[in-house]
Amino acid sequence: MSMKFPFFRTKKVTDDSFKVEETNIPRHVAIIMDGNGRWAKKRGLPRIAGHKEGMNVVKEIVKAATYYKVEILTLYAFSTENWKRPKSEVEFLMKLPKEFLHTYLPELIEKNVRIDTIGEFDGLPIHTKEAIQNAKEQTKDNDGLLLNFALNYGSRFEIMRAIKQVYTDIEETELTIDQLDEEIFSEYLYTQGLSDPDLLIRTSGEQRLSNFLLWQLAYAEFWFTDVLWPDFSEEIFKKALHDYQQRKRRYGGI
Ligand code: FPP
Repeated sequence: MSMKFPFFRTKKVTDDSFKVEETNIPRHVAIIMDGNGRWAKKRGLPRIAGHKEGMNVVKEIVKAATYYKVEILTLYAFSTENWKRPKSEVEFLMKLPKEFLHTYLPELIEKNVRIDTIGEFDGLPIHTKEAIQNAKEQTKDNDGLLLNFALNYGSRFEIMRAIKQVYTDIEETELTIDQLDEEIFSEYLYTQGLSDPDLLIRTSGEQRLSNFLLWQLAYAEFWFTDVLWPDFSEEIFKKALHDYQQRKRRYGGI
């Protein structure tokens, strides 16, 4: 067996019988990129090898999202619960944004991508913050795809944080409890100003939200695949878009 075998990507080959219409592209796609650890384990590799491979898949899916003119791509890269992982894995995950940006930022700038984050930014290590802050600065005027990383993100924390801020604003500003509605409350979330996700993708066969965008996903279409994130591809993304386009969204109506 070739020594390179474990590094081969086993991309699923999908047929081309499904099409993606240019109209009805989801404006906002959110992805729970799951299965990096299992991908690595299957190959007898350390878990971090799965994360590294997953990072390259991020680039591929950004390219596809740009191609299909998705407006916002929100990727769950590190949850508030992920701090419980072994220190070495956390350290590796915290280095990935820097490595990703070091490798791909010029191309992202060329593709008119804007980079932003949601989550408790201040809780990230300084080297992670610096790399991301620099990318945010350099891409702030871009008006193509918004590539939005959820980093140190937890949805319940986000909602509690919003409630506390609303409380403070009611005490200290003109805001009254009667004025408060869903639209105003949404402005207190990290996703302030962004449309809600239309499509949520989760890889690796798990079918749960894991504290991701609990408020914002109220009306999203959910799409699950058994494929592990490092095996995810443009073709599978295309299939998710195609399936999304077959859904009838009724928002509680008929
Ligand atoms: C979940 O898989 C994945 C993560 C916690 C990390 C996701 C991060 C990436 C895909 C790379 C991010 C890239 C950038 C550019 C920041 P898991 O480790 O829980 O997999 P398992 O369930 O198989 O153990």
